Amino acid sequence: MSTTAPSARLFDFIVASNRLPVDSVVNADGGQGWSRSPGGLVAALEPVMHSHDGAWVGWAGEADLELDPFDIDGLHLVPVRLSAAEVREYYEGFSNDTLWPLYHDVIAAPSFHREWWDAYRAVNQRFADIVAAVSAKGAVVWVQDYQLQLVPKMLRELRPDLTIGFFDHIPFPPYGLFSQLPWRTHVIEGLLGADVVGFQRDADAGNFAQAVRRLKGYATTGSRIEVPIVDESPGVRVFSPIKRGAPSRTVIAKKFPISIDADIYRAAAKDPGIRARARQIRADLGNPAMIMLGVDRLDYTKGIRHRLQAYGELLAEGRINPTEVILVQVASPSRERVKSYIDLRDEIELTVGRINGEYSELGHQAISYHHHSYPREEMVALYLAADIMLVTALRDGMNLVAKEYVASRFDDDGVLVLSEFAGASDELTRAIRVNPHDIDGLKDAFMRAVEMPHDERRSRMRYLRKRVFDNDVEKWSNGFLEVLAHHRHEKDTRSR
Ligand code: G6P
Repeated sequence: MSTTAPSARLFDFIVASNRLPVDSVVNADGGQGWSRSPGGLVAALEPVMHSHDGAWVGWAGEADLELDPFDIDGLHLVPVRLSAAEVREYYEGFSNDTLWPLYHDVIAAPSFHREWWDAYRAVNQRFADIVAAVSAKGAVVWVQDYQLQLVPKMLRELRPDLTIGFFDHIPFPPYGLFSQLPWRTHVIEGLLGADVVGFQRDADAGNFAQAVRRLKGYATTGSRIEVPIVDESPGVRVFSPIKRGAPSRTVIAKKFPISIDADIYRAAAKDPGIRARARQIRADLGNPAMIMLGVDRLDYTKGIRHRLQAYGELLAEGRINPTEVILVQVASPSRERVKSYIDLRDEIELTVGRINGEYSELGHQAISYHHHSYPREEMVALYLAADIMLVTALRDGMNLVAKEYVASRFDDDGVLVLSEFAGASDELTRAIRVNPHDIDGLKDAFMRAVEMPHDERRSRMRYLRKRVFDNDVEKWSNGFLEVLAHHRHEKDTRSR
């Protein structure tokens, strides 16, 4: 990747996310280099940024990096520096050990620490300050995800001329869980600084609206929330509706299900080199009759343990023959200094070791396990090689891996097993849908996938492909940005 230093300039379109699309890494020669950042957020936003001449404000993935704005592969990046303490308290702490588990059904117990909250507020303020400094008058700013929920309000205070959108990539929890958060009202107020707040599913938007009603007492009608311009509430709990005639602004809160650049996956899958690589992968695995595949960040929300449990039991019961079927599990490293992730890795690797110890033979493994992340080309080759894709998340905002698999299967083959707790299951209704907590149900679903007749595989995959290609990432970003533009137009017309 080649970088150049751009001249200082102001932008009409700005995206702010915790992570930039590239992470700073040390090259083999000891110099500084860049690698692609992990996760679905970056994957989805990259094509959006390529089609807008905007700036991307975010963190370069390493503590204490003092970097000037720079351009890389046609993207204008504006780095935000985080100190080592902030990485610990804002990123690993409040973002990933408080909000992440709380927003994912408390699968792991969230930790609440006041110092973490202070760091979260301070870093959100820094993001707001930097965005304000690079935004042209009247610019559109699109803030991303749970790490930056306070930025919309902070930014509106600094720059009332801006149009502000926010998109939440992860679930928004039901009030019964969200209300555990000691700083819940501040988070709601932070988000309400935006003009449009987007979610993955209707349920997330509904949970948010309920939190707004319960904590702020504001009226919500469908996707519209009336927010008084002068908030006279004491800031804790107000149950009284806005006084009639009091000046208010409307915030739109609704779903915009995120997607992928499906054409890129289809084109990659048709590439002769990648198809040859897919054949090579099958051969390297011993040309098994059936390859099952799991691809996840190593995260407790992904249901990897449940998947392994079901798979192990099928082997133990002899329903799956380990010389005919193999499970390939790619678990990409994630948040490796957060305790729940360290514990999860130990647990998964112990389970994989046990299953392999029991059922592998010389030259043939029951599970081929990889604690790595791979470039897109290799992922597409894996998708092509895999007969069955297992997405068994216990809770997931969307799960773009499910969509990547479908987009890659230009041959209309392959079976997707998909958790009903992933946002993707709202759209991909002809996947084999599973409740991953139900291990017997999961086992039956795996067997159904293994035994599915070719015609059924084909008709289901065709349906899934239509859904993914009709709703790609361009539709997602255009859909969001059009609502934002419409909102601005309404605002301008009203203030005239
Ligand atoms: C999810 C989140 C993103 C995050 C990504 C990778 O997709 O929604 O905000 O960037 O995971 O996690 P990380 O903590 O490595 O940025």
